[in-house]
Amino acid sequence: MTDMSNKVSVLFVCLGNICRSPTAHGVFRHLVIQAGLEDKIEIDSAGTAAFHIGKSPDGRSTTVALERGIDMTDLRARKVDFGDFYAYDYILAMDDANYSNLMELALPEHVDKVQMFLEYTQEFSESEVPDPYYGGAQGFDHVFDLVESASLGLLAHIKKHHLS
Ligand code: 4NP
Repeated sequence: MTDMSNKVSVLFVCLGNICRSPTAHGVFRHLVIQAGLEDKIEIDSAGTAAFHIGKSPDGRSTTVALERGIDMTDLRARKVDFGDFYAYDYILAMDDANYSNLMELALPEHVDKVQMFLEYTQEFSESEVPDPYYGGAQGFDHVFDLVESASLGLLAHIKKHHLS
């Protein structure tokens, strides 16, 4: 892992790390690069489950992302580990189950790092990014919309609280 001491670091977490959290990783990375902040913000994603370690993002997620100008095909799935709670400033859960699993793993001094990602959307009232894995294509579009909105809010928050 790179030295992240001078960077604000963000870890996106879902179940498998092949649909929702890589979408968040890819979208947020795109926004950070567009803003010229890639030297200031470290980004990664991980899953709470081990099913898909080493795999590329789901093709349904990469297709929707590519249609919207985001290439995340370089990402590979990994599982959350204990070191993540030390390494990352923001550990952002996609749904309530991810949040509960993270909170069970977190030490008391790290629980404040764990948040629901959709706390950062200003447009949607949902609190969870729904698991699209067993659903249709529409679910992947909705995931992208939620993730894009929360990513914009997260970047604004980080700029305001850490980089201004
Ligand atoms: P993700 O979606 O958590 O958004 O990556 C899923 C991927 C795989 C499975 C479930 C959800 N699965 O059961 O294999």
